[in-house]
Amino acid sequence: MKNDLVKLARKYGTPLFILDHAKIRENFRAFKKSLPTVQAYYAVKANSNQEIIKTLFNEGASFDVASYNEFIQVHDQIQNYRKKDKEFFIWDKIIFSNTIKDKDTLRKIKKYKPLMTYDNADEIKKIKKYCPTAGLVLRLKVPDTGSQVEMSSKFGAEPGDAMALIDAAFDCGLTVEGLSFHVGSQCTNFDNFTNALQITSQIFNECRKKGYATKIVDMGGGFPVPYDSYAPKIEQLAHVINSETKRLFPDDVELIAEPGRFMVATAATLVSEIIGKARRDGKLFYHINDGVYHTFSGIVYDHWIPNFSAFKRGKTEVCAVVGPTCDSFDKISVSEQLPGNLEIGDLLVTENIGAYSIASSTKFNGFDGARILHINK
Ligand SMILES: Cc1ncc(COP(=O)(O)O)c(C=O)c1O
Repeated sequence: MKNDLVKLARKYGTPLFILDHAKIRENFRAFKKSLPTVQAYYAVKANSNQEIIKTLFNEGASFDVASYNEFIQVHDQIQNYRKKDKEFFIWDKIIFSNTIKDKDTLRKIKKYKPLMTYDNADEIKKIKKYCPTAGLVLRLKVPDTGSQVEMSSKFGAEPGDAMALIDAAFDCGLTVEGLSFHVGSQCTNFDNFTNALQITSQIFNECRKKGYATKIVDMGGGFPVPYDSYAPKIEQLAHVINSETKRLFPDDVELIAEPGRFMVATAATLVSEIIGKARRDGKLFYHINDGVYHTFSGIVYDHWIPNFSAFKRGKTEVCAVVGPTCDSFDKISVSEQLPGNLEIGDLLVTENIGAYSIASSTKFNGFDGARILHINK
């Protein structure tokens, strides 16, 4: 494997982002196998590379899109469908999961009769005015303690306000198709899922009692990736979700989820190259040709902890690994155990870097970012 990476880096140059489509397919199939009653909407935001969308589309995935552009990326896959099949695909397999959508987006997607989330009264008015064809899913605020990225401080209606927001949507002629939540990304605390399902089921049952034909329960993302050996396996979480959903919801509930990270994180490896080496205040700094403004962007907002390994052996010491830009913020890690004898031109490898990485890479300081190499397509 190491030899292969060196060969690829020599052939294509660095930084090189190697995306393994066999692994994406494997992740999708593992998800479907563990959660057979849950329709998987890939959260495109995790990595919006068009080839990933294509691979998952061919696997039969559905899609969670955050913006009009992401919607069009998915829509490109069905360009040649007949009108009726297109409409069905959009209705059945795409959800706009961003609770706040600007009016231009709403205007543009009106003709597609999209399914979309909301979490407040002003959004209802906006949707009614600019996209009255939409089907709605109310996003609830749920506990997200201990997840790598917490979501509930920015999104979700208080459960106590849920019925009023559902009534308000129906009162103005819109239809609420279901409820959603997000327990926070990289959620290793299963209580978040059980609590969220419990909260959702109470509101779901209240809707049914009121005569609303509520049918969708969207459990969002958060499905953990094995970044380390402590991360729980999907089968363990699935066991909890499968039994809780069976216990809490009627048989005709439509369960959906929006896994992002789970599908792509383990499918990519980055090979970067040391371009400079300096001792600063006694600490060894390796300057590499990728950084926080590029493939390692997830460090900032995804709270991702990077991993590095070198091909060369040698006595290790605590080093800093920093990016190529002139900004001192561009420090990927200030405490990485690496051999002290690495030289300019030596390669570093970072695994499990497929999610929230190239998705938010910039061109800051004029650096292009990593070349993407697709394997096993
Ligand atoms: C609404 C929504 N759904 C799904 C996801 C994907 O989450 P994850 O990558 O944890 O699966 C996100 C991530 O930000 C999100 O905001």
